[in-house]
Amino acid sequence: QIRAVLFDLDGVVVFTDKYHYLGWKKLADEKGWAFDEEVNHGCRGVPRLASLQVILDHNKVDLPQDEKERLADIKNEYYKELLKQINEDDIYPGVVPFLEKLKEEGVRMAICSSSKNAMPVLDALGLAKYFDAVITGNDIENPKPDPEIFLKGAAAVNMHPFHCLVFEDAESGVDAAHAAHMKCIGVGEPQRLPNAHECVTDYAQIDIQALLDAGRVKTI
Ligand code: BG6
Ligand code: MG
Repeated sequence: QIRAVLFDLDGVVVFTDKYHYLGWKKLADEKGWAFDEEVNHGCRGVPRLASLQVILDHNKVDLPQDEKERLADIKNEYYKELLKQINEDDIYPGVVPFLEKLKEEGVRMAICSSSKNAMPVLDALGLAKYFDAVITGNDIENPKPDPEIFLKGAAAVNMHPFHCLVFEDAESGVDAAHAAHMKCIGVGEPQRLPNAHECVTDYAQIDIQALLDAGRVKTI
């Protein structure tokens, strides 16, 4: 039985994954590095510096640590600039009614995001009120796929991992949820998230009762 739902933020509750992509794309274009949606998929759920490393590895580029930190800061400035325009259209369709239904059912909810920008994003869109806890990249030492962030989320809502369900759009996040011994629903196309039990692209299609009874979005 599911009594708490832990949500990743970027690409799960809001389309900020698009802005992370555009931030890295701007930097990559300036540097003449190859970067596309496919490479970006490997950056989902991955912290800032580690995401830069994914791009550098793809381009077989080696840089000193201080230069990597400088470039990661520049990407963050580009990202924050893009965030200035976020509005309700950036909220994943159907997610607000879904959160409201879960709240009515007394389900505890938390955000578990690798992003250090998660809180300003939630505040800008008025979404913080739905969550009993928000765990961000500022609160953890070991990034996904380590289970730390989801275990902290479960503890923050006072729930055993057995009763927690995770929504994730990143492979690293799906693996982190499993490492925390939690069921995980992938958000996106199933071929992109082979380790997720099931995937959704539309929250309106979810049968809340089946979800809470069995942690499933589809009946077999
Ligand atoms: C994750 C995103 O949520 O947060 C990644 O999926 C991003 O793309 C990571 O790199 C860290 O975010 P930030 O905002 O701290 O650079
Ligand atoms: Mg994500």
